Amino acid sequence: MSKFTSAKRLVAFTLVALVALLPSALLVRAQEDPVVIGVAVAQTSNVALLGQEQVIGAQIAEKFFNERGGVNGRPIRIAFADTGGDEAGAINAFQTLINRENVVGILGPTLSQHAFAADPIADQAGVPVIAPSNTARGIPQIGRFIFRVSAPVAIVAPNAVKQALKINPDIKRVAVFYAQNDAFSVSETGTFQQTVKDLGLELLDVQTFQTTDTDFTTQITNVLPLEPELVIISGLAADGGNLVKQLRELGYQGLIVGGNGLNTANIFPVCQELCDGILIAQAYSYQYDSEINNAFREAYKAQQEKEPPQFSAQAFAGIQVFVEALSRLDKRKPLKEMDLATLRAELREEIMSGKYDTPLGPISFVETKKDDGSPAGGELVQEQFYVAQIKMNPDGKTGRFVFLD
Ligand code: ALA
Repeated sequence: MSKFTSAKRLVAFTLVALVALLPSALLVRAQEDPVVIGVAVAQTSNVALLGQEQVIGAQIAEKFFNERGGVNGRPIRIAFADTGGDEAGAINAFQTLINRENVVGILGPTLSQHAFAADPIADQAGVPVIAPSNTARGIPQIGRFIFRVSAPVAIVAPNAVKQALKINPDIKRVAVFYAQNDAFSVSETGTFQQTVKDLGLELLDVQTFQTTDTDFTTQITNVLPLEPELVIISGLAADGGNLVKQLRELGYQGLIVGGNGLNTANIFPVCQELCDGILIAQAYSYQYDSEINNAFREAYKAQQEKEPPQFSAQAFAGIQVFVEALSRLDKRKPLKEMDLATLRAELREEIMSGKYDTPLGPISFVETKKDDGSPAGGELVQEQFYVAQIKMNPDGKTGRFVFLD
């Protein structure tokens, strides 16, 4: 044997030994079939003002978890399906992911309004759904397979009203606006109106609109003579942003609380410098100091050159829940040895029983029941919430969310 050959052998042997020493979880075996996770959010329509941030969060999660070994060495692949802006689009996206992409589970849809239409299809097919942003009352109660990583309005929304009172303790007179054609807005305004009463404030007037509206002059001119000191809005990003803009243009100077549908920097081009000062409750803070959030924040900033918003963080957390539940399940019962229906059913149980250290903080799920007492899905258990205020820059185009104490 020549010296050259034995040297080559030594190198090859050393390489094999090194690879064997690496924890297998750190290696994605790229040649293997990926585990396919569906993401059905709004990539087009007005709702994409929220949905775009979810796509970014899910894409970052796909890369992030694949770099960390995917599902015990097997890569994940995200199959995206655009829900567009209506229920039919959401149903279509869910059907495509379930029947054509053969996904193990679905992250989506963007709106509660769409979830009430599309989630029953996944539930009947036995496909786990994790809602990344559905905050209306009753989402997990749609069915056993439905979970959410988006804390419900009843827990999050009151914080913003309390913060408004902290800023201006003299507030007594409150006017409320909400989008009556949107399930989440209807649910959220219920919480806001109850909070106003619970805090001993005066609910002067309640005005309604549609998420497709662009002109709010009638509603605003009804309210302004009543001299509100706080206005609370439950709508989506485009309508909500326009309502804020027109309130200011017509002379309203008091504080404004926006609901979860306005919780995106994508409203900045809509209300521009007049977005300044809006208070919005948050279920995520980029400042939350933990290993996973610092890693997510770094990955997000490297790509987007700004701080991560709530909708991206929640989408990331939803994919994380899928990946961690799949990894645990695979160790207990190899995924490859199960047919798809069994895998989906086992995954439902695994998601429910886990605890997850996410950028949102530590989260878990609690079993819920439908009104008739039959078993339903998993409601989120989350510990920390925040309130942020929009601060626009002098250019009137860019701005940021400033977290308040
Ligand atoms: N939180 C909003 C909803 O549930 C986006 O529809």
